[in-house]
Amino acid sequence: MTDQASKLRVLANNALIGPAKKPAGGPRIIAVTSGKGGVGKTNFVVNLALALANMKQRVVILDADFGLANVEVLLGINPPGTLYELLYKGKTIEDIIVEGPGKVRFISGGSGLHELANLDDKQRQHLVNSLSYFQNCTDFVLIDTGAGISKNVLAFTAAADEVIVIFTPEPTSLTDGYGIIKVMSKFNVHREVGLIVNMAANEREACQTVGKINTVANKFLQIKINHLGSICADYTVVQAVKNQKPFILAEPHSAASKSILKIASNLINGPRQPVKGMGGFIGKLLKLFG
Ligand SMILES: Nc1ncnc2c1ncn2[C@@H]1O[C@H](COP(=O)(O)OP(=O)(O)OP(=O)(O)O)[C@@H](O)[C@H]1O
Ligand SMILES: [Mg+2]
Repeated sequence: MTDQASKLRVLANNALIGPAKKPAGGPRIIAVTSGKGGVGKTNFVVNLALALANMKQRVVILDADFGLANVEVLLGINPPGTLYELLYKGKTIEDIIVEGPGKVRFISGGSGLHELANLDDKQRQHLVNSLSYFQNCTDFVLIDTGAGISKNVLAFTAAADEVIVIFTPEPTSLTDGYGIIKVMSKFNVHREVGLIVNMAANEREACQTVGKINTVANKFLQIKINHLGSICADYTVVQAVKNQKPFILAEPHSAASKSILKIASNLINGPRQPVKGMGGFIGKLLKLFG
């Protein structure tokens, strides 16, 4: 009887969450970037990770913003090591992962990312083996790439399966963000790019901003823009940053939290690109750095 009951429970759980939690081919690897700095990338990555975790997704954040340890500051956590220690100090992937709220796992690239062009074959293999750890136990890898058109940012955006570009309505953000999408379009790496408008004064301004970006992109670029959602300027975000707590945890009912949950749902239910798998991603990244 007990045996049957436990079998039923397993069946019910499977019906709810699906028998295989692992997406075929590995996690969706998404690079988050922007033309201009300070538009809200790191806040977006951290809170999106938590929103996805809230929807039963297993998420890893990779901080690939060279030199700036912003993700850990926002999460209020201190990782026990970075990719540098993994590559040069004999640490394993388990040694450098830290688990935050919602079981979101976090890896800091640290100065290890500066070394990607200088690795010998053994180190390259070690990196591939280490990051392949996430192949079967992760639904999303979110990469905070930093801003601007640098080799590093372009390598991460090209190696990822999907790219999200964050804009604000400011003219400088529009021109710089357009610049980065133009480069992606030119190199024909992605057929579409996700768009987020952050810090608009209201929904109307967010819609106008999306309209402006779509108009120029449709006219001049060979790339589809997929608007994933907008987050208006919300003082609870500023307050949460000061308290080193992600806004979705500090103020779960705020407008910003509702928007990020909607974006997470759009990501899960919307169109997705084919995944390369962790091995494919790291292989491409090393090729681009090499
Ligand atoms: N929706 C929002 N409403 C109000 N303020 C916001 C919002 N999003 C971000 N901010 C403010 O913008 C600041 C910068 O955000 P964040 O650090 O996430 O940007 P970033 O793009 O990662 O910056 P960098 O390019 O320097 O890495 C935050 O500290 C916060 O004060
Ligand atoms: Mg940042």
